[in-house]
Amino acid sequence: MAKPITAFTCTACGASHRKWSGRCEACGAWNTIIEEAPLSQGPGRGLGTLKGKAIPLSGLATQEAPPPRAQSRIAEFDRVLGGGLVPGSAILVGGDPGIGKSTLLLQAAAAFARAGQQAVYISGEEASAQVRMRAQRLGLGDAPVQLGAETALRDILTTLDAERPDVAIIDSIQTLWSDQIEAAPGSVAQVRASAHELVTFAKRRGTAIILVGHVTKEGQIAGPRVVEHMVDTVLYFEGERGHQFRILRAHKNRFGPADEIGVFEMTGGGLSEVTNPSALFLSERGQPHAGSAVFAGIEGTRPVLTEVQALVAPSTLASPRRTVVGLDSGRVSTILAVLEARCAVPFAGLDVFLNVAGGMRVHEPAADLAIAAALLSAREDVALPADTVLFGEISLSGALRPVSQAENRLKEATKLGFSRAILPAATKVEGVSGMRVDRVSDLTSFVGETFGA
Ligand code: TYD
Ligand code: MG
Repeated sequence: MAKPITAFTCTACGASHRKWSGRCEACGAWNTIIEEAPLSQGPGRGLGTLKGKAIPLSGLATQEAPPPRAQSRIAEFDRVLGGGLVPGSAILVGGDPGIGKSTLLLQAAAAFARAGQQAVYISGEEASAQVRMRAQRLGLGDAPVQLGAETALRDILTTLDAERPDVAIIDSIQTLWSDQIEAAPGSVAQVRASAHELVTFAKRRGTAIILVGHVTKEGQIAGPRVVEHMVDTVLYFEGERGHQFRILRAHKNRFGPADEIGVFEMTGGGLSEVTNPSALFLSERGQPHAGSAVFAGIEGTRPVLTEVQALVAPSTLASPRRTVVGLDSGRVSTILAVLEARCAVPFAGLDVFLNVAGGMRVHEPAADLAIAAALLSAREDVALPADTVLFGEISLSGALRPVSQAENRLKEATKLGFSRAILPAATKVEGVSGMRVDRVSDLTSFVGETFGA
């Protein structure tokens, strides 16, 4: 008899391995690999035929127009989706436990229902009465949302098939359990199979399905990454525990721009929209102080201003600290290296702490110049002028590379009362009224001009 084949799967990213190891080579997570019985393959069926028929792309234009996107009228939520919910699409909303996913999606379900969509909210984590209590606390008690408390996939699909809602929210994918699979709820096999069935249902029936997935640190529960490739749109709900701000970010979107963000504030009455995030992220800024630089960034389609904060202090450690919150630590190391090697500004023997105010995360390479400015300002103990914003990418040679959408960045900065911008010399931008533009070609001249070093 053939030896039964077992597979080892990473619960964080879903990668399969031939043998167990302590660390997943695919995603680098520790203690996430578990042994799982593989899905049975079934006998091969030879060549299949394309059900229906292949049709020319141009032929699609003559068919009826696709149904319009459904709007929740929560503007921040609709924008992250790319302008509303596409019927029949599958959306994953991931995030740390307790960050506010259930709150957001219950509010979204109520908003869709109030906007005339048929919305179903199925919780596998709370009883219907608990969901109703939460809805009442959020002031949504009267919204025409259908509630269900269910974990059996078969029953959920039967309900959805009977109701044919416009949008169904499943909270969460890790609690579902399919009787087709012999594995515990939350295992990679169950999560994948359940997601696959729900996504297939969405495409077949035109119901938009929103799946909630908890980010898991380690252990036996599969994380949302294992279903990312199956869905059309992947959104992550981010935020720092200590801050009340939450950011819904599109990591992948077949129907809209990726990297779009929606900004919310967690209040006693649920999540409320933040329509002017720049003002919010800069609100903690007081008098100009050393180590602070304002970055004019772009998040998706919208300009957002953020404050990069740096602290540089003598270190007592053999290898000094590099603590980075809200920025890519790899990029920060590169910028420190460029400052040392090209501009002769050493950071050896100094602890470096970097942070983005308000719990925001900045991924754009355009933030390089603002990071360098914050570091230099902290190191020299010289405050940058309060009216100045910066943006530009730093190359390894120390040259400054232009970045896209300069005009949008400048306009947003003017709106918030800034009157001077420092940007790469090669940036293609017309003047923006009320904004003095200082162009610099490389980091060395920036250091010289701004800090007189
Ligand atoms: P929840 O939506 O349950 O998180 P998740 O589904 O991502 O696990 O949110 C839980 C947190 O939100 C909890 O710590 C309390 C807080 N919260 C408020 O501050 N205000 C509210 O109105 C609600 C409903 C929750
Ligand atoms: Mg929840």
